[in-house]
Amino acid sequence: MEIAKLERYRPTLHFAPKQNWMNDPNGLVFFKGEYHLFFQHNPNDSVWGPMHWGHAVSKDLIKWEELDIALYPDELGTIFSGSAVVDWHNTTGFFPEEPGLVAIFTHHLEDEDHTPPVQTQSLAYSHDKGRTWVKYNGNPVLSHPTKVDFRDPKVFWHQPSQKWVMVLATGQTISIYSSPNLKEWEFESEFGENIGSHDGVWECPDLFELSIENSNEKRWVLIVSIGDNPKFEVGSRTQYFVGSFDGSTFVAENGDIRWLDFGKDNYAGVSFSDIPKEDGRRIYLGWMSNWRYANEVPTEGWRSQMTLPRELTLRETNGGTHIVQKVVRELDEYFTIKKEVKDLSVGIKNSNNYEMNAEYAEVELILENIDACRYGLTIHHTATQSTTITIDAGEKLLFVDRKESGNVDFSSNFSQTQKIKLEGTKRNHLRVIVDSSSLELFMNDGEKALTSLLYPDQACASISLFATEGQVNVIHGKFSIPSNE
Ligand code: FRU
Repeated sequence: MEIAKLERYRPTLHFAPKQNWMNDPNGLVFFKGEYHLFFQHNPNDSVWGPMHWGHAVSKDLIKWEELDIALYPDELGTIFSGSAVVDWHNTTGFFPEEPGLVAIFTHHLEDEDHTPPVQTQSLAYSHDKGRTWVKYNGNPVLSHPTKVDFRDPKVFWHQPSQKWVMVLATGQTISIYSSPNLKEWEFESEFGENIGSHDGVWECPDLFELSIENSNEKRWVLIVSIGDNPKFEVGSRTQYFVGSFDGSTFVAENGDIRWLDFGKDNYAGVSFSDIPKEDGRRIYLGWMSNWRYANEVPTEGWRSQMTLPRELTLRETNGGTHIVQKVVRELDEYFTIKKEVKDLSVGIKNSNNYEMNAEYAEVELILENIDACRYGLTIHHTATQSTTITIDAGEKLLFVDRKESGNVDFSSNFSQTQKIKLEGTKRNHLRVIVDSSSLELFMNDGEKALTSLLYPDQACASISLFATEGQVNVIHGKFSIPSNE
């Protein structure tokens, strides 16, 4: 394939496979100075097909180096999603000499003899920092006599009970198992029957503890992705629950449905394992696509990219305890400020346009609405392609409109407006990061996120601010472009 075609829409700040298909992030783990990103991969085509685990490593979570395929299908099936851990204390017996990595993944077996398909959990281990893998000869380590949806194991070491814990997607619930050695698993509990959204099949869970900002308190958070259901226009998306976990049972304290992201393009996200205690961050990344149109997005020779990695914390807000997402600070190195403004008035007669001409860009704004009905910013990709972010003060909504953003015709669903419901405060903080084929928006210091793919001919020519019927005060505005590395 021509290089030009292969490179079209290729992101600079986000991980995308060199070639062919990618979906969920898998086996996110930090080990010996490297972040590992494995991913659902079909190395033979740029649409979903027999799954392998692709592999990439990074030192700073932003620049990734793609390595050889880590896991290939075998007689137990293709390799679906899962996680990876460091077995520090050789609980498995795989590491008599020094600690290494264990991958815990789903084997998916589907053929004439296996309809419906059979999903089981299996292990593979690596002695060379994830470069080569040996499948455990006792696979599978966990199966179920009746459950058809039985996949996506996310495993972590639960210190208080001194055992491994696995959360597993089991249809419309999450099942929790435990093990002393990753090989023998015992059922602990099942969560989710009468709570949360059941708009689609439950997939890719993650369970971890997070601190509440500005307090000594912590809570456990369970993340659950919800598959596409044609009845609803949003497609696939991710919900979360905040609560407690005692090593056996997760109890949610929120009864309402909580979405992790208000854009269409953040799915199947999970967090990194084994980030050192001194660092202490819980870092998450998602697959930046939507099952509704993932196989049709207009890239050639490769498909899909990951979100930027985000640090997660909890914040007490009016509505309870919520996840806050901030892009990891490592990204800051990649930007330099091009223009900064303070106390600037924006109205119908004085909109402002800032030249960017950048292959990726960032804008941060603290906006105070004096009396405008609608206000916001337009990202001009080219002279004729733009994406608009509008705050409607009356409706108390933020909209992202990508109808004119470039190539949108591959799916009628893609053009639908994406929305965040706002509290209706006068002052709003917005941070927007634009790459060649995406936009990630964070409101009020990470309280709400909106992740959206875009397919313009160019990332960012300029950014303009606007307000209708009245005035908005830009208390602070910061426009950034790539730093010269
Ligand atoms: C989520 C998912 C997982 C599964 C994988 C298959 O996007 O459907 O449940 O393991 O993708 O590629």
